Amino acid sequence: MNADGLMYFPKGFMWGTATSAYQIEGAWSEDGKGVSIWDTFSHMTGKTARGATGEIAADHYHRLSEDLHIMRDLGLNTYRFSISWPRVFSEGAGQVNPAGLAFYDRLVDGLLENHIQPMVTLYHYDLPQALHNQGGWVNRKVAQYFGDYAHEVAHKLGDRVTHWITHNEPWVVAFLGYFTGQHAPGIQDPVAALQVTHHLLLSHGYAVEAIRSEQRQPGKIGIALNLSPIYPASENEEDLQAALRIDSLQNRLTLDPLFRGAYPEDLKQRLGDLFPSVPPEDLKVISTPIDFLGINYYTRQVVRSDPDFPLFQGVPTMPSGNEYSQMWEIYPRGIYDLLSRVWSDYHPASIIVTENGVPVPDGLDFDERVRDYRRIRYLSDHLQEVYRAIQDQVPVGGYLVWSLLDNFEWALGYDMRFGLVYVDFETKKRKIKDSGYWFKQVIANNGLQKSLPYPFNKEDPGFGN
Ligand code: FCB
Repeated sequence: MNADGLMYFPKGFMWGTATSAYQIEGAWSEDGKGVSIWDTFSHMTGKTARGATGEIAADHYHRLSEDLHIMRDLGLNTYRFSISWPRVFSEGAGQVNPAGLAFYDRLVDGLLENHIQPMVTLYHYDLPQALHNQGGWVNRKVAQYFGDYAHEVAHKLGDRVTHWITHNEPWVVAFLGYFTGQHAPGIQDPVAALQVTHHLLLSHGYAVEAIRSEQRQPGKIGIALNLSPIYPASENEEDLQAALRIDSLQNRLTLDPLFRGAYPEDLKQRLGDLFPSVPPEDLKVISTPIDFLGINYYTRQVVRSDPDFPLFQGVPTMPSGNEYSQMWEIYPRGIYDLLSRVWSDYHPASIIVTENGVPVPDGLDFDERVRDYRRIRYLSDHLQEVYRAIQDQVPVGGYLVWSLLDNFEWALGYDMRFGLVYVDFETKKRKIKDSGYWFKQVIANNGLQKSLPYPFNKEDPGFGN
């Protein structure tokens, strides 16, 4: 910390926000866009809270210039967004849809005009329905199609995009989509989930090759994983072992093949026949070196041993004593532990926190201000832990808040608000929340105030609106 009470981040630190296509764009059937599995799933009865769909979402597709304006106002230097595959290939493969690509072309140009680095995610859950009809990610062919799609996008945008993310949270795609069925396509089959994990990772490798061969400026390439540090519920040996078992499934299942070119041996043994047979050449493709690892962090897991629980003999607990958000326990220390562990075990070339954020109830006050102080505290506490990791030489190059706008939170619909910007889903009107103004200040300072401003510290008059 410096004498002025600010914790300064490294020069050139990437400050931004993250979003994804289906969660904000709307325009679900416009300009030649094909149907995605999320269009199908959200239209099925009982799959999302209150039957919510992304048909209109935050209407970002039609409000691009307004949203760019907001980003500039916040002073972001990075914006992470995803490309809707069925906008680019309505059938997933074959004929390109130029109108779909043109939207992202405009978005990238708009960002660069505002001095914001574009970070493109190629896949954030919205598989073209046409490919699902061919078996979806269970079908190895879809990994090839993903490589072709990556080629096409990199060909079009590779002269301007500074950062590429192949997949967002392959673990979630596989396990929520194909095992618990809470996400599209709503399948409940553990064998499929493991096969899908492998195909997603393989397709990541294909995409890395495709982007490298197409890009005309050296953009950096990575993948964004949902990682969670796993702690034992007690010091007992049984709980310690249970935590290690869950860690193999939750974290090492994706980290090991990407960084070590091998799936965890203990996990493979535990899963036996459920684990897919994997050609060794695939692991070479999967472990193609990448430029950065994206980490999405929201919470930790605390696990206790439970001999009755199949295969893993461990179950998550709900520890008491800490604050909870609408979805998870709030545990800032977890991001420090996670960053340190990933760095010491895997040594990625660089790490970017590609998502961190919190759902807390908020809304417009009478004066149209959104006083989301709990979000400010969450973000500030987590950033302090990121800062601590950087002080310990973990190469963290950026921090992106999930999310820019309140949006469609998958199965939970519009009930969860994660934005730095409030969206009235009736009128689609936007309003920067107090957390947005707070983040703007952090970015402007390239540093974090040790003590939080008003209302945590009564001296501070508030935020600039
Ligand atoms: C992550 C997803 C993102 C959003 C946040 C809250 O798992 O990547 O789309 O839903 O959680």
